[in-house]
Amino acid sequence: MKELTTDIYTGDTHTAADRAPAVEKSVIVGLEDVTKVYGIGDLEVRALNGVSLTVTQGEYCSIMGASGSGKSTAMNIIGCLDRPTTGRYYLDGVDVAQMPEAELAGIRNLKLGFVFQQFHLLSQLTALENVMLPMVYAGIPAAERRERAVNALTRVGLESRLQNRPNQLSGGQQQRVAIARAIVNRPVLLLADEPTGALDTKTTQEVMDIFTELNDSGMTVLMVTHEPEVARQTRRIVWFRDGQVVHNNLKPEELSHATF
Ligand SMILES: Nc1ncnc2c1ncn2[C@@H]1O[C@H](COP(=O)(O)OP(=O)(O)OP(=O)(O)O)[C@@H](O)[C@H]1O
Ligand SMILES: [Mg+2]
Repeated sequence: MKELTTDIYTGDTHTAADRAPAVEKSVIVGLEDVTKVYGIGDLEVRALNGVSLTVTQGEYCSIMGASGSGKSTAMNIIGCLDRPTTGRYYLDGVDVAQMPEAELAGIRNLKLGFVFQQFHLLSQLTALENVMLPMVYAGIPAAERRERAVNALTRVGLESRLQNRPNQLSGGQQQRVAIARAIVNRPVLLLADEPTGALDTKTTQEVMDIFTELNDSGMTVLMVTHEPEVARQTRRIVWFRDGQVVHNNLKPEELSHATF
């Protein structure tokens, strides 16, 4: 016979099995009514106009929307590169909306990985050195730095390219180095602003396969893209228009018949 228990708060009775909580996913990104206003007076631009967005642990999410709709502005705030004018931002449970820059820099290094359209690798460093760099700032001992960088580069399929400089690598390979660099500090959130924007179709797919694999292994991924073929490979699409979220959770299969 099932043993019934009574919830001390609600008075409900239930079996132990009913009570087993659904696995609670933690909130990684919590934006609440965020605005971002650039300039003042007649020159004022409201880049974000009341954005609320929640991304939970393990999600694979893309942000789409017309040019100028506020996608990069939102990513810069989510990535702690900029602060909201008003509103709240909780990153992995920490209120970072008005945190001083020095502290924000620490949070960026500890919790976030970034991938940009233009790779942003240091041209005088090898692939291995580029990937080791964030760990220098994070204070990881030298021997461990090398081992972790090799592992990250192996994960993106570049174990045979450790000693090449960026100009000796293809665009797709450079982006893979950038992804390795972004994940090497084991961030809670991987952010990518148009990571395939500078790549051809075949290379785009190689890079997307890596993002998908990282998400499959538990990494929370949030990317901006203009390409429906890229967005369709994520699991959730957020649509921006005029500094607002007009679709919060569009399923990839709904993309072609959604109206904006
Ligand atoms: N530093 C800035 N100073 C003033 N206005 C800005 C600044 N950065 C962005 N804006 C304005 O804010 C609005 C949103 O820009 P944002 O770069 O976020 O758009 P986006 O959706 O990323 O566009 P795209 O798809 O072209 O990259 C635009 O009107 C833009 O001109
Ligand atoms: Mg942009």
